[in-house]
Amino acid sequence: MPKNDWFAMVRTLGMVSLLSGVLIVMAYEGTAARIAWNKQQATEAAVFAVIPGAVQKATFAVGQDGFTRLENHDEKGPKVYAGFDASGTLLGVALEASAQGYQDTIRALYGYDPVKQCIIGMKVLENRETPGLGSKIVTSEEFLKNFGALNVSVNADGSALEHPIELSKRGMKPESWQIDGISGATVSSKAVARALNESAQRMAPLVKKHLDQFTVK
Ligand SMILES: Cc1cc2nc3c(=O)[nH]c(=O)nc-3n(C[C@H](O)[C@H](O)[C@H](O)COP(=O)(O)O)c2cc1C
Repeated sequence: MPKNDWFAMVRTLGMVSLLSGVLIVMAYEGTAARIAWNKQQATEAAVFAVIPGAVQKATFAVGQDGFTRLENHDEKGPKVYAGFDASGTLLGVALEASAQGYQDTIRALYGYDPVKQCIIGMKVLENRETPGLGSKIVTSEEFLKNFGALNVSVNADGSALEHPIELSKRGMKPESWQIDGISGATVSSKAVARALNESAQRMAPLVKKHLDQFTVK
């Protein structure tokens, strides 16, 4: 190939690569805020699904000394969502949890009733588990029944859960703090148990300790 043609080819390829790079960055910048907003909306909508009976909610930032009410939901950092009935009575607090599943990270929201000391609902917000296998963590009614009144009592010194949330042994009746896994999708079921356990070990004692901070207004 003549030298001039070779330079022209390299220059053209360089320009195309540069242009592609700029377009990719622009597409990312243009959609990142929208994606984050959609994710936040989906999380907030799920609050009412994981706290049965809740008709109003308030958002709180998680700090060293408990919880601070947030008026601006766009603020970064860990958040929890308190759910109330029409008269403003606290029914539960919705908390985020995540763990590595079979394919990728599973992200869930669960409702915690600090008075009954139970998990009262769970919704998977994001997962890439195998359709028809791990994806049953989203659709299996049997599996979702595990999260109607799952015992997450805090221990006597208020430092952690009395019993870790875990999968029950196959064929055994689950204890009140155990989850009955999905047959053929044990890895995904275990990941949900692990996500909830990691979060509740930390958050249930904190929520219980600062219950008075969760006011509707
Ligand atoms: C292609 C393929 C995809 C799989 N996807 C999942 C999955 O998404 N979640 C899961 O728990 N197990 C999945 N499994 C099955 C796991 O490897 C494992 O066998 C299963 O979780 C064990 O459950 P069991 O002890 O109830 O049989 C998959 C297996 C194959 C071959």
